[in-house]
Amino acid sequence: MTTRLSDLTNRIQNEIALSHHSAESESRLICFHLFRKYFGLQKMSDLFGVDRIFQLPIAFENELDFILRERKKNYPLQYLFSYQFFLNHEYEVNPSVLIPRPETELLVKEVFAHYPAKSSLCGLEIGLGSGIISSEILFHYPNLKMLATEVSTEALIVGEKNIYKVIGKEKATRFQSHLVKKGEIFPSKTTLEVYGLDFIVSNPPYLLNHPSEVEEGVSLFEPKVALFPEEGVNFFYKEIISLSQKILKDGGMVFVEIPHERSKEIERMFLDADFSVSITKDLSARDRVISAKKRK
Ligand SMILES: C[S@@+](CC[C@H](N)C(=O)[O-])C[C@H]1O[C@@H](n2cnc3c(N)ncnc32)[C@H](O)[C@@H]1O
Repeated sequence: MTTRLSDLTNRIQNEIALSHHSAESESRLICFHLFRKYFGLQKMSDLFGVDRIFQLPIAFENELDFILRERKKNYPLQYLFSYQFFLNHEYEVNPSVLIPRPETELLVKEVFAHYPAKSSLCGLEIGLGSGIISSEILFHYPNLKMLATEVSTEALIVGEKNIYKVIGKEKATRFQSHLVKKGEIFPSKTTLEVYGLDFIVSNPPYLLNHPSEVEEGVSLFEPKVALFPEEGVNFFYKEIISLSQKILKDGGMVFVEIPHERSKEIERMFLDADFSVSITKDLSARDRVISAKKRK
């Protein structure tokens, strides 16, 4: 079929307008995804600079129909596209991993702000998911080694694959991941002995599993194990503090993403464990990241 780009974006926008506030920006994202895939366009500006006429392949039309049908059911665009951009890279995503969020960039940037790029460091991530955090940290610090834990086998596969894509062959020597059992965040001492880590970083599951508490934008198509801590709302913060007493060096750092509603409570947990704490706010001026230093 032959179509003018502006007619196509208007058609998409009208179809999803009833269910989505952001129909205009979504329609551009959908167009960009399809034109990148079927016409090899690389940048949004390559597509939207001039209002051109295109001859659309049948596969393009079929995929567009499929995306529109699924979008009306609120199925996330990122799972439909199978990727999401985060900081410097494109990451594969599927329904076994949380969709990377822009606010998690703050968490990674907090790590960057604490150590110069040439530092030789050893870090640990709790809850690897799609691998965005470990991957961006490994990419930024060429002399750094990362360990990561994950409870979901499917997520671990996606995370490792993404890290392999970003740091390539070095993965084998610079990155190690470990599957853990539910109820633990780190393998028992008999499986893995680690001491003197420089930092622990985590965007743990932290939402209360109650419809009134699930923030706007949280998709119920995402894995529950990535969203809701079954063991109790502050389980991960409690466990990370306790783990850091054992394996973090004195003066080491803990960086965690937090729910703004419970920031004071979580800050208190770190203060009581003798950490010094600073809190970073997100773009909506809500407490989002705790950076905590273990006292010497
Ligand atoms: C909020 S998601 C974060 C994923 C990714 N790091 C990110 O920032 O997008 C939390 C992750 O922790 C994992 N997880 C849940 N329970 C865990 C546990 N006990 N130990 C380690 N990881 C766990 C989930 O499977 C999920 O991948």
